[in-house]
Amino acid sequence: MKFWLGIALALLASSQTRGSTVERIFKRLHEEPPLPTSQNRADEVQTLWIEQKLDHFNESETRTWQMRYMLNDAHYKSGAPLFIYLGGEWEISPGRITGGHTYDMAVEHNALLAYTEHRYYGQSRPLPDLSNENIKYLTVNQSLADLAHFILTIKENYEGLSNSKVVIVGGSYSATMVTWFRRLYPDLVVGGWASSAPLFAKVNFVEYKEITGQSITQMGGADCYKRIENGIAEMETMIATKRGAEVKALLRLCEPFDVYSDLDVWTLFAYISDTFAGLVQSHSTGQIEGACQKIMAGSDDLSGVAGYLLESYGNARCYDFTYNFITGLMLDTSYNGNIMRQWTFQTCNEFGWYQTSGSSAQPFGTKFPLTYYTTMCVDLYGPQYGNEFINNQVDTTNQYFGGLTPGVENVYLSHGQLDPWRAMGIQDPDQATIIPEHAHCRDFESISSSDSAELKASKERIAELVREWVK
Ligand SMILES: *[C@@H]1O[C@H](CO)[C@@H](O)[C@H](O)[C@H]1NC(C)=O
Ligand SMILES: *[C@@H]1O[C@H](CO)[C@@H](O)[C@H](O)[C@H]1NC(C)=O
Repeated sequence: MKFWLGIALALLASSQTRGSTVERIFKRLHEEPPLPTSQNRADEVQTLWIEQKLDHFNESETRTWQMRYMLNDAHYKSGAPLFIYLGGEWEISPGRITGGHTYDMAVEHNALLAYTEHRYYGQSRPLPDLSNENIKYLTVNQSLADLAHFILTIKENYEGLSNSKVVIVGGSYSATMVTWFRRLYPDLVVGGWASSAPLFAKVNFVEYKEITGQSITQMGGADCYKRIENGIAEMETMIATKRGAEVKALLRLCEPFDVYSDLDVWTLFAYISDTFAGLVQSHSTGQIEGACQKIMAGSDDLSGVAGYLLESYGNARCYDFTYNFITGLMLDTSYNGNIMRQWTFQTCNEFGWYQTSGSSAQPFGTKFPLTYYTTMCVDLYGPQYGNEFINNQVDTTNQYFGGLTPGVENVYLSHGQLDPWRAMGIQDPDQATIIPEHAHCRDFESISSSDSAELKASKERIAELVREWVK
């Protein structure tokens, strides 16, 4: 009995300690949208590779690489459409195309179902490492061009596909790609479904933590919001009044966390706020409510917040929230299993989207200012990635892709009302569907009797649109 308990605890510990705490907080905010719970395991998914150019926009660059993709042809009939689920900043997995609403629509139309992996993520590695010299081919333009080449190539080579209509689907950043692909290559796809797509690039994305706070109030109550706000404010005050050692002990921060270093303090509060962001962004029924119950069970604001954080961090001896530790992870130019270096590069080079403490209408304090994030861009990728550069790049991105007026037809936009990302997407109810009490990318499951009326209506709407598009 003791022996088995020992094994169970060891397994639990190893699953909790995979990667450091900061890596797990980051990952939760950037993971693959949840896989459909109902899976058709009889369908065989093939993993295949396609040759891609390293640089689609430079004729004299001849280097190529292998992009990974997956195919499910179990329900395909020659001449039927092609449905492609686009990978974003994560590793692709077969369960994406063996269940869920997109799968159901593919079955309805006897479509071939594909899942493409985004360059520099998962196993799709254009170059052997992520050095500053080698990471520069990681741009959304290049990845959209990869997709264009994929579509042209598979239509030319796959039996019966040459005249097929193509529908694309994505969630989060890959939903952004759905919209932008339709803008740049309207002739290659008849339409797309973009769930939770941020479309407007913005350096100081203050709305993110505002909506995180609003969603906590909505689902967990105003008391919970207030307690988080007070608890974090108390930690800030302690650090400002030479009681930083108490905060260190309370949150079990590893040495050499320096309570007098802005960069360390900013790192700590950024990741505390991101812990709550992870809760809200991935909310499913009861989760925010459950977290708030724990927070409110603490004897006061400070211990309620600290207790919740420690519980969600698992059971390590200490937690490393130093600036050196996290930049160390991101200066590692090997493919080390986390996507922090890659995604952060895309933010510094194209999107911004820093979820800062720049608004007072959020409960997470004042200690993760924009400077924290722009300092990191310079420290990670070089002096040219300064403030002005990032601002210019973000402006260029919006001009090129149209921001909140992308000018595309046949793209169905859906958002979760609790999702903090929705502030960077189109909110106009005439152009997008906002699903109440749902979070980020939470509308990919099959239609089910447990769906809310709004969720079910949204899924039926996209199914109806797809019928028109592939007719
Ligand atoms: C294009 O590729 C060639 C060959 O690799 C390289 O020498 C050149 O600098 C590249 N041009 C640009 C604008 O990147
Ligand atoms: C790539 O995207 C940027 C916007 O970020 C745009 O200005 C640029 O012209 C694009 N390059 C190509 C080759 O399409």
